[in-house]
Amino acid sequence: MATSGGLPPPPAEPEPWSERDFSPITLFLRHQIGITLEAHRMGLLQARLRSRLQAKGFRGFSQFHEQVLRGDPTGWGAQLLIDLSTVNHTSFFREPAHFTFMAERVAAWLKESPAGPIRIWSAGCSSGQEPYSMAMVLTESLAGAAAQKVEVWASDLSLEMLKAAAGAVYTTRDVQGVSPARLRRFFLLGRGPREGSFRVVPEVRDLVRFRHIDLRNSVWAVPSDLPMIFCRNVSIYFSDEERQTLLHRLAQHLRPGGWLVMGNGEILPEVPPFFRKHSPSLFQKEG
Ligand SMILES: C[S@@+](CC[C@H](N)C(=O)[O-])C[C@H]1O[C@@H](n2cnc3c(N)ncnc32)[C@H](O)[C@@H]1O
Repeated sequence: MATSGGLPPPPAEPEPWSERDFSPITLFLRHQIGITLEAHRMGLLQARLRSRLQAKGFRGFSQFHEQVLRGDPTGWGAQLLIDLSTVNHTSFFREPAHFTFMAERVAAWLKESPAGPIRIWSAGCSSGQEPYSMAMVLTESLAGAAAQKVEVWASDLSLEMLKAAAGAVYTTRDVQGVSPARLRRFFLLGRGPREGSFRVVPEVRDLVRFRHIDLRNSVWAVPSDLPMIFCRNVSIYFSDEERQTLLHRLAQHLRPGGWLVMGNGEILPEVPPFFRKHSPSLFQKEG
């Protein structure tokens, strides 16, 4: 017989699309994907995810969690969360001094061993502007020999970004900072349905090879013994501990004397002893 002081009623189902409805997603992000977002980024993700899920007919975050993430924690649902929670801001020739530095170093290395190829990696390449900027600068400085002398490797965690990068099609806004001379030389103007868009020319595209790599993982499908790695504006997503692990692993992919280029605004709390700091964003591996 039920008593008046019996069991409390079960907690009410969370309101669809509410903060409480979102909480299994926050836990999934933290434990399965390893991403902890600041509150404002979490709010942004919530809004973006809601509109994507509503378009697919879902009726709440927890329904998505139950029906998709629970059954397949590495499938399309997880990839969607990764794509929506990473900040992909980038631009052509961002922090231009880095590209000049790279071209000078490549010229010096090719003097030492003219056969090449010199391999450079853009780790966290977003939608491709960074590796294509590298390839354009190298095409300019190597006057017709770039295809034999250099390879640009490029990787990202986000499949959506990699797809955009491989497509190499950009908007007027994307190419705003590109000089008219480079625009003429390195981009094809879209026609018909692609009117108003700019596609990177095959000569530059062919220098770049894309890979899907999570820099939090320990195995990376890129060559080691590299002379230079750009890993700019990526470690902002990492905790201090993860950042230290990242620096160790990047160092393992550099040859002695090789260079790590980071974003100008990235503050490293601690520079590991195997790197010599030349400027706030340029680090050389000892050796
Ligand atoms: C702000 S963008 C920087 C793009 C470019 N490096 C630049 O500086 O212009 C950061 C990129 O890092 C990628 N990223 C974030 N976490 C990553 C991880 N764990 N492994 C690989 N890429 C990651 C994001 O998907 C995003 O495309």
